Amino acid sequence: MKCSQSNFIQQLHSACINVCENCVDRHAKHPMYRNKVALFFEGEDGERRSVTYLQLHDAVSRFANALKSLGLRRGDVVCVYMQNLIETYVVLLACLRIGVLYNTVFAGFSAEALRERIVRCGARAVICSNGSLRRGRVLRLKDTVDQALQGVDTVEHVIVYRRLPDLDTPMTPGRDLDFQSLLASASPDCPPEVLEANEPGFLIFTSGTTGRPKGIVHAGGGFLLGTYAYTKFQLDLRPEDVYWNTADIGWLTSHIFVLVGGLALGTTTLLYEGALDWPKAGRLYEMIERYRVNKLFSAPTAYRMMMKHGEDVARQYDLSSLELLVSVGEPFNPEAWHWVRRVVGGDVAVINNTWGQTETGGTPLALLPGAVPMKPGSCGVPFFGHDLAVVDEEGREVPDGVPGYLVIRRPFPSLARDVYGDRNLYLNAYFSRMPGLYFTGDSAVRDADGHFWVLGRVDDVINVSGHRISTMEMESSLIQHPAVVEAAVVGEPDEVKGQVPVAFVTLERGWEPGTDLEEELKARVVADIGSFARPARVYFVEAMPKTRSGKILRRMLREILQTGEVKGDVTGLEDWEVVERLLQDLRERAPGSE
Ligand code: PRX
Repeated sequence: MKCSQSNFIQQLHSACINVCENCVDRHAKHPMYRNKVALFFEGEDGERRSVTYLQLHDAVSRFANALKSLGLRRGDVVCVYMQNLIETYVVLLACLRIGVLYNTVFAGFSAEALRERIVRCGARAVICSNGSLRRGRVLRLKDTVDQALQGVDTVEHVIVYRRLPDLDTPMTPGRDLDFQSLLASASPDCPPEVLEANEPGFLIFTSGTTGRPKGIVHAGGGFLLGTYAYTKFQLDLRPEDVYWNTADIGWLTSHIFVLVGGLALGTTTLLYEGALDWPKAGRLYEMIERYRVNKLFSAPTAYRMMMKHGEDVARQYDLSSLELLVSVGEPFNPEAWHWVRRVVGGDVAVINNTWGQTETGGTPLALLPGAVPMKPGSCGVPFFGHDLAVVDEEGREVPDGVPGYLVIRRPFPSLARDVYGDRNLYLNAYFSRMPGLYFTGDSAVRDADGHFWVLGRVDDVINVSGHRISTMEMESSLIQHPAVVEAAVVGEPDEVKGQVPVAFVTLERGWEPGTDLEEELKARVVADIGSFARPARVYFVEAMPKTRSGKILRRMLREILQTGEVKGDVTGLEDWEVVERLLQDLRERAPGSE
């Protein structure tokens, strides 16, 4: 298939397109770009490497052939369990090249969570790295994969990239293969598959209002068109930029703004493996200085972490290259916004707080830098062709200044097309609450200038350091423990992480509350989901506040946690005494009460 920048849009219209060809081949063929660095990699241990578009093209084509040689074909699913590495990009682009659907699973998820995501998509192969570095510790990813695969029969192969060559990595003969050897023996000639623009391109699981994660399906061509446009206009991304998006490849932000949007625009991107303040508080600034990064994309939690480390740390580095600081994933509180703009952005960088969801495959709300004025805390305005509104319970638009539900009234190319294997869940989760509208699960308010201010979730999802967690998933994990009768998890505001999960549990007769049991319950959630979901505290309570129909009033638990009292609406509460006992329990547990 012939492809150049000029026929890019035309190809979308003809509905045949290959995402990888647009992200890699176009630049690899172009005399000005082929030897340009596509990706810089920096490991947490300081290892540094880079790959040009030409080299990327070679590696991607080889790996695509390697996948084909294993019998993987268009429509098959593979699961990818890797941290930010150049090789992770090689794997994902190779899948896009031949129409194999990848499903990236954040490498912080536990074996149990990984198993569930492998089983739910019927993956035929798992591709992982043997280990990852995080805060100086080695995370043994291949061991987690081995554990996850016990009893799973769809997976024929595990391909292992040895990120840590000295790490002892047992391989299962006949199933496990070495990434480097596969790459070395494969041919570099692999024409991109001609794919229909609306057919599934890849999957990514996310949390929602059910107890189980949903496998969101994005269309290949639609995602390419959408992310190209968001990245071009909201980041004003250009080939001459040095751009760093700190998101992990396990989250969709990287796919939107780096893997597809960023590479389609021929930019140079920095990939970093580890913690942004490790081994020293200024690690992030040091890297901005080293690579002369001019566009930084991160999450409010990272910006708040910078603020917590203080101005003196930032002052030790030359950050004058920064022109644009972008954010997504959580509310960006004005205090952090102002600090970041002044200290990191030198009072000149544009701050773009964007709003998006795994399901929207991009950021329908954002600024167009330089064209739409900044307002600290706002998420900007709807992107071209995107029709967003704030509505009441019946789907009627509310006046400006009045909070309501954030909805989308018209589809756009990068909007999720399905939930893998469950069309009904897709329709129910997003389109049933208000017929004809896509329900985001967020509340928002629009101001008189047309800026949207996203206030938070109205469902059972909480946002911990930008990680989206379903409180129902955590509750299902807790009630598996024999001691627990009922569990309710709510988010509590946190200075750096935005929110942290706090659990309330009632116990089976014969079990005593105590630190050991609390630790056991926390460990249970870590084992079922991952350490990022670890509850900050577990409260053992005698009973939960409930409605007359027996539903736990989580809203009330949130209020009690935040204010230590109940002043909100108590109509519907079945038994006021339960609340009094709860307040008493909490007072007894409050710091300094012993
Ligand atoms: O609640 C909103 C919050 O994050 C949710 C989406 O999470 P996730 O799918 O993990 O995001 C992927 C990003 C491409 C939203 O429903 N959220 C996202 N951005 C903002 C936000 N809340 C407030 N302000 C934002 N800028």
